[in-house]
Amino acid sequence: MTVLGPGSTRADLLSPEAVADPYPLLAELRQHDPVHWSERYRSWFVTRYADVDAALRDPRFSSDRIAPYRRARLDGPDTDPSVRAAFGVLEDWMVFKDPPDHTRLRRLLSRAFTPRAVERIRPRVAQTAAELLDELGPEADLIGEYAYPLTSSVVAELLGVPRADRHRFKDWSDRITGLVFGGMGDPDRHADGADGMAELTAYLADLVDGHEGDDLLTALIRARDEGDSLTHDEVVATGVLLLFAGHETTTNLIGNGILALLRHPSEAPDAAGTVDELLRWDGPAKTIARLMATDVELGGRTLRTGERVFLCPAAANRDPAVFADPDRFDVSRRPGRQLGFGIGLHYCLGAPLARLETSIAIPAALRRFPAMRLRDEPLSWHSVLLSRGLHHLPVHTR
Ligand code: HEM
Repeated sequence: MTVLGPGSTRADLLSPEAVADPYPLLAELRQHDPVHWSERYRSWFVTRYADVDAALRDPRFSSDRIAPYRRARLDGPDTDPSVRAAFGVLEDWMVFKDPPDHTRLRRLLSRAFTPRAVERIRPRVAQTAAELLDELGPEADLIGEYAYPLTSSVVAELLGVPRADRHRFKDWSDRITGLVFGGMGDPDRHADGADGMAELTAYLADLVDGHEGDDLLTALIRARDEGDSLTHDEVVATGVLLLFAGHETTTNLIGNGILALLRHPSEAPDAAGTVDELLRWDGPAKTIARLMATDVELGGRTLRTGERVFLCPAAANRDPAVFADPDRFDVSRRPGRQLGFGIGLHYCLGAPLARLETSIAIPAALRRFPAMRLRDEPLSWHSVLLSRGLHHLPVHTR
């Protein structure tokens, strides 16, 4: 086996082989070069569980990575104003902020995003899943016809977006994906993503005007009106963040999860540990990005101020130092240590909602169609560094 030395160009997580199956490459990195400098991405890749876990809890690994990018690359006179505006919305996302701004935004959103608000939506998730399953023909795409419409209508409902408008989010969100998940430096993706962001932002800004209901958007508007601790732009940006974060990742988990269970038919889709094992074994968070706020020594290497780091839950979650026989998919494992929702200050705020949706959607589909099997077609995965998910999941339902 070739040892992956520092700066090796072989270690490309976006090669076609690694996009289809990143785990052999991640295992090789974890074993031979666990804090790896990639010349291709001008970034570090960190793959051991102990290092990923520690870095996610360490404020020297900063989440504030949009503002520096904007200052360095987008403040010039040649930048398309819509691209600058789109990055302005991203800059207001709590996931791209450090304390104290992060603390304030997270506290306000956590107050609105209560376990009660999530639990209340349970019957609607089950009902929407059942309705979508009713519609499936003998051949179906479980991403386009099931996971996506389910997760987007759930988050739209939670926020208070009219159901009739939910089909519009797919296009917006697909385009914004290019901006958020690895479009850095690609001007075409920027321009298209910026247009998508402008349309979605305008839509939400309209909705915020005079909106009143028993939903998350109303709770955010109240936080803005009382005490002035949330600006109008932050309300809109948080709405965009929730619509985006709320279904993209959950769609991927439902897709990856059904695929894993179809390939391991002896594993129970509804065991207590199934969702955790799906997140561990093939979860949607392939990497999580950070920017070095100061020089840090890690694994014998020096990560310098301003350098970008990809912390890899997909590698950490299969670290044999933590998980016995890590490549084996086994829903009876004791859950709890996987890093698929991150850890530390930015631990996924939507985790209870994602768990609820996944634990309903996956068993519902497999129970409804016990003879379901994969169609004999190559699978196509999103070619991005940050997330792992399928474009389509083609199955015979019966
Ligand atoms: C399976 C589905 C999901 C996965 C795998 C996932 C994964 C993650 C991860 C890894 C982070 C940490 C990012 C970081 O540290 O930089 C995160 C943060 C976040 N997620 Fe999720 N997520 C999922 C579903 C959701 C849902 C359904 C929502 C909301 C409706 C949501 C909202 C958020 C928010 C608001 C943050 C930012 C929290 C902060 O910065 O404090 N996520 N998610």
